[in-house]
Amino acid sequence: MTLMNDQTPMTDAPAAKATPTLPDAQVVTAVKHYTDRLFSFRVTRPASLRFRSGEFVMIGLMGDPDPKTGKQRPLLRAYSIASPSWDEELEFYSIKVQDGPLTSKLQHVQVGDEIILRPKPVGTLVHDALLPGKRLWFFSTGTGFAPFASLLRDPETYELYDQVIVTHTCRDVAELTYGADLIESIKTDELLVELIGEETLAKLVYYPTTTREQSPKMGRITDLLKDGTVFKDLGIEDGLSAETDRAMVCGSMGLNVDIKEILESHGLEEGANSDPKHYVVEKAFVG
Ligand code: A2P
Repeated sequence: MTLMNDQTPMTDAPAAKATPTLPDAQVVTAVKHYTDRLFSFRVTRPASLRFRSGEFVMIGLMGDPDPKTGKQRPLLRAYSIASPSWDEELEFYSIKVQDGPLTSKLQHVQVGDEIILRPKPVGTLVHDALLPGKRLWFFSTGTGFAPFASLLRDPETYELYDQVIVTHTCRDVAELTYGADLIESIKTDELLVELIGEETLAKLVYYPTTTREQSPKMGRITDLLKDGTVFKDLGIEDGLSAETDRAMVCGSMGLNVDIKEILESHGLEEGANSDPKHYVVEKAFVG
């Protein structure tokens, strides 16, 4: 099941795949550029790779040869898997940093190219790290949307909660596109609607905001939570509580610190795989 290929005009993979020559090589099957800072790509999935929606893996490319020895080492970074656990391919959503050691190169990958993927998924943005609750919040900025693109396409997310609210704050409207397209596909893609269930989809609430360009909802999500705007907009009268609310947070260091403070001021405590509680946090990859 290759959702993005069904939905969006990504380039198809060539019929004959290149023979892997890198250690843990996977072949790029699609690439889509959103802005000069953001792109997504899909790769083949190792047959043996099992993961929980929301987890991350180490991916990368071979680095430049060492000037002295001529030896090349893999250049790897942690990337959230943006596709759900049932998908036969793997999707990633990445920033492009022009002088970033990995993304300055990774942004040029094309269909048929190889990347390195270490098949050892880990992470805390998983359902297992949260206690049962009624309302699940996904708070993200920038590429921090990636793990939620995985969880939002996993039927389990809707089975576990009465309401699933995903907030995404970006500088401008173009940077919201990946998330907006994903939400649209969940509501209109035949396969996804069938998988998740049309009635269940009513549980999904999308709350995008921008900070540097005019859009229907402006401001940092942290400010909109603190002044009560979010609750007013969504018709939530009782605010956040440890009894009903669960949260997953993925964004810049600043967002993570500020949201943590807000959640803890409402009595929510940070959980882990070995100690499930009310919220979990991971830093979005930035380099
Ligand atoms: P702002 O424009 O006010 O800095 P970036 O592209 O730099 O990773 O930022 C993504 C989005 O996250 C931007 O809209 C940015 O807002 C917002 N942001 C940055 N720091 C915080 C924070 N501490 N709390 C909430 N949002 C933040």
